[in-house]
Amino acid sequence: MPEIIDGKKIAASIKREIASGVELLKREKGVVPFLTVVLIGNDPASEVYVKSKSKTAGKLGIQSETIKLAEAVSEKDVLNLIDKLNENPEVNGILVQLPLPPHLNTELILERLNPRKDVDGLHPTNLGLLATGRPTFIPCTPFGIWELLKRTNHSPEEKDVVILGRSNLVGKPLSLLLSMKQKDCNATVTLCHSRTSNLPQMARQADILISAMGQAEFVTGDMVKPGAVVIDVGIHRKEDGKLVGDVDFASVAPVALAITPVPGGVGPMTIAMLMQNTFQAAKST
Ligand code: GUN
Repeated sequence: MPEIIDGKKIAASIKREIASGVELLKREKGVVPFLTVVLIGNDPASEVYVKSKSKTAGKLGIQSETIKLAEAVSEKDVLNLIDKLNENPEVNGILVQLPLPPHLNTELILERLNPRKDVDGLHPTNLGLLATGRPTFIPCTPFGIWELLKRTNHSPEEKDVVILGRSNLVGKPLSLLLSMKQKDCNATVTLCHSRTSNLPQMARQADILISAMGQAEFVTGDMVKPGAVVIDVGIHRKEDGKLVGDVDFASVAPVALAITPVPGGVGPMTIAMLMQNTFQAAKST
């Protein structure tokens, strides 16, 4: 069986590092990091994620608040709220939980954030800095995947990395990150998506295969090169209640050198890196 990459354990160790940093910042500068999470509507998955974010923040000594807005809130009201949070010197980090209700323009809302408070790293300025190799806030899931690879000695350095899924949240920023000219990056990245012809053949080229396509158990053993490292970003609940990823664990595990489980792989890392970005935002104010 392959190495099982324990995201929960690695996230716990990152969170301990952050908690020490937070304590030092408080002691030396009197600064306590403050994160505001904006949750719009009643998406049950988003509610769970947001609760988990504020609970984690509390454990690390980071203050947080969640502002809940009704599903039917107007775009103008959301933009006004963001303006107020941008101006509030107490607030170091702002996160607008996605997805937004369909009547709201996600790009417009994310663009309204002060890039220096955009701890999700989704503002075009922050994505542009990442694209030009000078990242400030790296989006949390790509950041978490990078940390997982580094901390398990599977550095992307000079590897062939294939990413499945081109979302603004994961696939696209991850491709920018891992192809940066920088230590522990320098990967040759192929970004595959729903219109890729012969995706299984592309996937089989990967030394490191990262799936963020959002299709349950899509990646099967025949799509994986023997000895590849497989990172699963997906999370889906099956009819029997079981949580599974984008990767069909049963057929892929025997082929892989290392693999992340679902749950307990990438998920815990996303939250840890949000805390890291919030801590960094507070430090640099
Ligand atoms: N929804 C799912 N993942 C994320 C994330 O990383 N950030 C935000 N803002 N929303 C999400």
